[in-house]
Amino acid sequence: MPPRTRYDTISEIAKRRGFFWPSFEIYGGMSGYVTYGDLGTKLKRSIEALWKEYFVRKQGFLELDDPIINPERVFEASGHLENFKEYSAECTQCGRSFRADHLVEEKTGMENVEAMGGEAIKHLMLEHRIRCPNCGGELKEPVLFLPMFKTEIGATGGEVGYARPETAQAMFLNYKRGYQHAREKLPFAVAQSSKVMRNEISPRRGAIRVREFTIMELELFFDPQDPGCPWFREVENVVIKLSTEEMEAKEVKELLETSIGEAVEDGLILTEWQGYFMGVSQRFITALGMPPEKQRFRAHLPDERAHYSAQTYDHEVLFETWGWIEISGCAYRTDFDLRNHMEASGVDMTVLREDGTRYVPHVVEPSYGLDRLFLSVLEATYERKQKRNILHLPRELAPYQVAVFPLVTKDGLPEKAREVHDLLLDKGFWVVYDEAGSIGRRYARADEIGVPLAVAVDYDTLKNDVLTIRDRDTWKQVSLSLAELPGVLEAYFKGEKDFLDLGTLVIRG
Ligand code: GAP
Repeated sequence: MPPRTRYDTISEIAKRRGFFWPSFEIYGGMSGYVTYGDLGTKLKRSIEALWKEYFVRKQGFLELDDPIINPERVFEASGHLENFKEYSAECTQCGRSFRADHLVEEKTGMENVEAMGGEAIKHLMLEHRIRCPNCGGELKEPVLFLPMFKTEIGATGGEVGYARPETAQAMFLNYKRGYQHAREKLPFAVAQSSKVMRNEISPRRGAIRVREFTIMELELFFDPQDPGCPWFREVENVVIKLSTEEMEAKEVKELLETSIGEAVEDGLILTEWQGYFMGVSQRFITALGMPPEKQRFRAHLPDERAHYSAQTYDHEVLFETWGWIEISGCAYRTDFDLRNHMEASGVDMTVLREDGTRYVPHVVEPSYGLDRLFLSVLEATYERKQKRNILHLPRELAPYQVAVFPLVTKDGLPEKAREVHDLLLDKGFWVVYDEAGSIGRRYARADEIGVPLAVAVDYDTLKNDVLTIRDRDTWKQVSLSLAELPGVLEAYFKGEKDFLDLGTLVIRG
């Protein structure tokens, strides 16, 4: 048996406690699909809410919700049908197909083989005599495959449609509405968090690569002659680790540490808008629990870059099991998409400048895979301490905020604990009640699902309305009165108070 990886441990807890598990389990499962349980659904929702805090609400950006299945002509115009392809190698014996660049990476330890292009991938397959990882059979020469789900819209004779592989096209198709709703002023952005589908060739690495996932992305429209970002000053001093296109081409391993301001000034990041979103991105990912030293931004080489992009920086985080994994891409899409849709639809999408000239707006796009952020949060916050599993989830993300326990299940303590539980529910908290097993086991169960605070109801509560709160991260306890409880919890979850400010520290002799 190979040694258990950190990912194995985390996914075992995830399955057992209800964060996520492989879909279609009762029919033997199918790779590339995951199902989120109660805790996972709630955690995903709070990550999405935090993304909106960082990228939508404060900037006053607009939101959109658009269909998943699009008619074929959308993806003809966007260039996806021609360009959104990957190299697939089929086994001559078992018939299974694999992503050719990933096979090369697994066999050679090389990184980012996709960026080397089709001919190099074919050559490397031959040079390293790569065979089928499933049955050892010979593989056919890799061919380009379009990883999009095709369907028919309507009954017989209906139109060909595709499930969208990104939400971005919706923002371009509805650009004129957005412009109107933004009072015909640029810059403005339209954001969308929604499901997309990709018929991934051979999804492995657990839930990192799936066939149906949530993308959270926004398209920022601006005048290329007026490319300044009004909030750039807020991030110009954020220090990031960068691997530029030149460094990638020369295979420089050491990362460049630079401020966002310097990187834009030196032309390493092409626009202020990309710089702004990259700075916000580092803050956002840090708020999810991933420290800056486990984050980097890596530029795409031209062969890896999407057909629409003039420059893309992937934001990557370090997983113990897999190394660096892309969690988002920040792309400068220029006027590529609007121009293509304008030509294909005949609808004018130009904007009039004050000097009478017309232009097609340019676009910068930060795009996040919510499911990968979800895994990053578990990766960043899981700790094994004194034989216990703890998820140090940031308090604003925790699926359940408070656990309520009676010390013992007699003498009226469960009834009192239920009262406290109901009171906190009424005040709007997400609360779990647990009376099964020893109080130590109940604390351990709450730690494992990342409940930040556990309230214990004991004989002092019955007598004097005094309770204790235990902190998941330090295992310290404070005592306070029941009357104070809702107020201090509210302050704690708003980030206005730290744990030790919630009551009087309990010192156990
Ligand atoms: N609109 C830009 C776009 O779609 P992308 O890099 O292809 O860019 C954006 O995808 C993000 O979606 C990635 O950074 C990654 O986090 C996530 N993602 C891409 N493919 C995925 C997959 N098969 N499973 C889970 N997440 C995926």
